[in-house]
Amino acid sequence: RSFGQERENSLGVNLTDPDELAPLAEAMEKAMQQQWEARAIIGGKIHGGGKEVRAVDPSDNRRSLGVYYEPEESAVREAIDIAHKSQPSWDATPAAERAAILRKAADLYEAHMGELMALCTREAGKTIPDGVAEVREAVDFLRYYANQCEEKFGAEIPLPGPTGEKNTLRLTGKGVFVCISPWNFPLAIFTGQVTAALAAGNAVLAKPAEQTSLIGSLAVKLLHKAGVPGDVLHFLPCRGSTIGKIVTPDERIAGVAFTGSTETAKLVNRTLAEREGIIPTLIAETGGQNAMIVDSSALPEQVADDVVQSAFHSAGQRCSALRILCLQEEIAPRVLEILSGYMDTLTVGDPGLLSTDIGPVIDEKAYKGLSEHVEWIKGKGKLIKEAPLGPNCANGTFLAPVAVEIDDIAMLEREQFGPVLHVVRYKAKDLDRVIDAVNKTGYGLTLGIHTRIDSEADYIQRRIKVGNAYVNRNMVGAVVGVQPFGGQGLSGTGPKAGGPHYMLRFANERTLTVNT
Ligand code: NAD
Ligand code: ALA
Repeated sequence: RSFGQERENSLGVNLTDPDELAPLAEAMEKAMQQQWEARAIIGGKIHGGGKEVRAVDPSDNRRSLGVYYEPEESAVREAIDIAHKSQPSWDATPAAERAAILRKAADLYEAHMGELMALCTREAGKTIPDGVAEVREAVDFLRYYANQCEEKFGAEIPLPGPTGEKNTLRLTGKGVFVCISPWNFPLAIFTGQVTAALAAGNAVLAKPAEQTSLIGSLAVKLLHKAGVPGDVLHFLPCRGSTIGKIVTPDERIAGVAFTGSTETAKLVNRTLAEREGIIPTLIAETGGQNAMIVDSSALPEQVADDVVQSAFHSAGQRCSALRILCLQEEIAPRVLEILSGYMDTLTVGDPGLLSTDIGPVIDEKAYKGLSEHVEWIKGKGKLIKEAPLGPNCANGTFLAPVAVEIDDIAMLEREQFGPVLHVVRYKAKDLDRVIDAVNKTGYGLTLGIHTRIDSEADYIQRRIKVGNAYVNRNMVGAVVGVQPFGGQGLSGTGPKAGGPHYMLRFANERTLTVNT
């Protein structure tokens, strides 16, 4: 629980304790009885216009959650104007004051856990444990970046003055940041990006993924309630294409914090590169083609458990999720036998029930793309297991978790963002070939290793180029401040979210030399 001397992480909820569970269930139930509405928030005011879009529950398309309104282009331009004008005064606000506001927001998030979790479950299809983890991670980001804000932005850093001059280094905000987030961590990543940008002294245009606009709206309302000025933080629930057309090409945007697919990151990068004016900052955290390497000394039961956690939980919709399981041939039959049995016991269905292990994939488009891939890969490889769907899956986008054995990692050209596991067997003498094939995918996000030979773990983790490597455990759920998260290559530009260097990317460094 303790992350260091100055900070503790959010406690979350003990889901096995009825006394903790009952009030949470009641708050979630109450939150779902209302119809939600999300509108752009510009200059602290709820924007009246826009195009109405129905918010969809991926687990049951008959359930009405509410609506959100995509703001018109003129409203988006107004938000840029206001943010640009207000940023200097926010940057001049003492770091301790900015940090206090973020800590207050963390408390508010915890106080509104039921509503936040209800939206995570219904709008994003998250299971109850994933919903708890989502709120906890968001709260952790708030507190972690509040501490970093005070530590790094609170005072000038004195430098040597060998010639009698006084030299100091100071961190300031860069200007206006647009924060573009994905639907799979609609609260945690949304909050992490926005909070880091604000803490560093920037004004922010917060852009949620279309699929999770209601959650983003509630988060921004809580941040405003905590004291983030309305003219500094703006909420724009618009399409990605609107941001691509109006916001990223605007010369007043100093930086973009983007988390999403590698393809969209490249699009954003191109727009920024072709723009006139200042050279903007791009922080891109993107997809993965993540492997787990299991040698013959590993414990098969533990491997199977960690594979299920890593590949199928959260319906495989984590950038960190396991996609390619590499099994040394001696251990493969036993691991696959246990894994098949385990997959039979998984409950796929309504994420609002505590008994559910795996919820839906986010929408029809995702379902169709994944289903096509599963059909294709089943034709190319050998089906190991397709888990059964639960009884109430007919009106949602539920994809049965599936494991398929294939011959060659090179067959997998792009990330499949769902509960689809590809398995390859290797001979001990071919370990280097497996390592090379994993590196050749070009991605570099997470890696799992299962072995009881320390030198083997060390050899593999040194040779595979990833941002986060995990040995003898699952490979998801990085904890803020404990496992700073982010990749390299096609997986992102760095820096690592929830790590000590993240906020520096949102800042300018200014050296002052005074001849005393
Ligand atoms: P996506 O790329 O489709 O969308 C991400 C965001 O970009 C959305 O808000 C979208 O509206 C916006 N967008 C779309 N077109 C745009 C444009 N032209 N200009 C600006 N913004 C635009 O990704 P997604 O489907 O929402 O999320 C899933 C992806 O995110 C997966 O690839 C996953 O691996 C990745 N992801 C990475 C991390 C990480 O930390 N590395 C974390 C979570 C998710
Ligand atoms: N930070 C998330 C995880 O580690 C993506 O699973």
